[in-house]
Amino acid sequence: MPTSMPDMPDSRNWFSDISDSRRRHFLASRREGVLIHVGGNSLVNFASNDYLGLSFHPAVCDGARGALDEAVGSGASRLVSGDDPMLHRLETKLAEWKGYEACLIAGSGMLANIGLLQALADRHTHIFGDRLNHASLVDGTRLSGAKSHRFSHLNYTALAALLERHVSEKRIIVSDGVFSMDGDSANAASLLSLAEAFDTLLVIDDAHGTGTVGPEGRGVTATAGIAGHPRLIEVGTFGKAFGSYGAFILGTRELIEGLRQRQRTVIYSTALPVAMIAAAESALTLIRKGELVEQLNQNLDLFKQRTADIGFMESESPIQPLLVGTDEKALQIANALREAGFFVPAIRPPTVPEGTARLRFTITAAHSPEQIEALAATLRRVL
Ligand SMILES: Cc1ncc(COP(=O)(O)O)c(C=O)c1O
Repeated sequence: MPTSMPDMPDSRNWFSDISDSRRRHFLASRREGVLIHVGGNSLVNFASNDYLGLSFHPAVCDGARGALDEAVGSGASRLVSGDDPMLHRLETKLAEWKGYEACLIAGSGMLANIGLLQALADRHTHIFGDRLNHASLVDGTRLSGAKSHRFSHLNYTALAALLERHVSEKRIIVSDGVFSMDGDSANAASLLSLAEAFDTLLVIDDAHGTGTVGPEGRGVTATAGIAGHPRLIEVGTFGKAFGSYGAFILGTRELIEGLRQRQRTVIYSTALPVAMIAAAESALTLIRKGELVEQLNQNLDLFKQRTADIGFMESESPIQPLLVGTDEKALQIANALREAGFFVPAIRPPTVPEGTARLRFTITAAHSPEQIEALAATLRRVL
């Protein structure tokens, strides 16, 4: 049996570089509506991406339950035997709702983005990404082998300069729609203008904007009036406003057919359980009614009114970050809020850039006005 060198790590010290101060903790918390039970305490949850409260909406739960009567797992990838007709029905509905020709459902947002960029790009491709893009877009770019160029957040002059400098046959601009940690939005119309001027594709991942911002909650591309443009590919998820799990990619008919052939994270992965699809379909019906999106906007307006002078970052989305700088200060405020009955996470590097630790509040349609008022009053006292 080969012997290890004395200082070679084994599995017990393989990750010994992780410092205690930056260690992340899995909380084993149980959710119940907008409450979260952590360590024996019930707190009002302002840390969820379940922006419309659909993950516990009776109609969404009923949708999932109905499908569960038949089966739990899908048993195989879609190309083998896991391709339930429900997936096709939901793809058609999503494409119609968002204004695209076609749609492809994937296992999760992470899988959608990694697989999409890997399918679209190779080492001859150049990808231009916003510096604050979600990890899934960063990892998809890496996995594709494309040459990666990153521009400072929302700085489209810098993006244009990069596009000017790096010419090649296949180029792709990639951006979050609503940014997950800052809550601000890409200017989708400007990005599309650059994509047209420089002959590139444009990928917008609107995981957080779908179901929350824009006309009828259709996201940043609907706000910009560019949905369905042949240069544009859009990604959305079911794990956030839809209250379910999974993701979808929207584009032209030809693009989606190409992805069916090439997207490895769809081809080589078990199809989503139909219960998740049934839940997402029920969620879409509720989103299209408009009342929940309207309620979310009212709650957001109330929160913004009550915290107008506190110095929150500029954001029109349900993600409302309060920049505090140091990790210690962010943790202190998060702990004080927790003691007062509110769950708000301190987001620290490496999730956000060094020196930009923050509290990330997420407002949902399921919060009551009283809970929002109480949070704002407590925050004022704590600060
Ligand atoms: C912008 C963005 N894209 C993709 C994802 C990943 O989605 P999922 O949680 O479905 O894997 C997230 C999740 O936080 C996200 O914020």
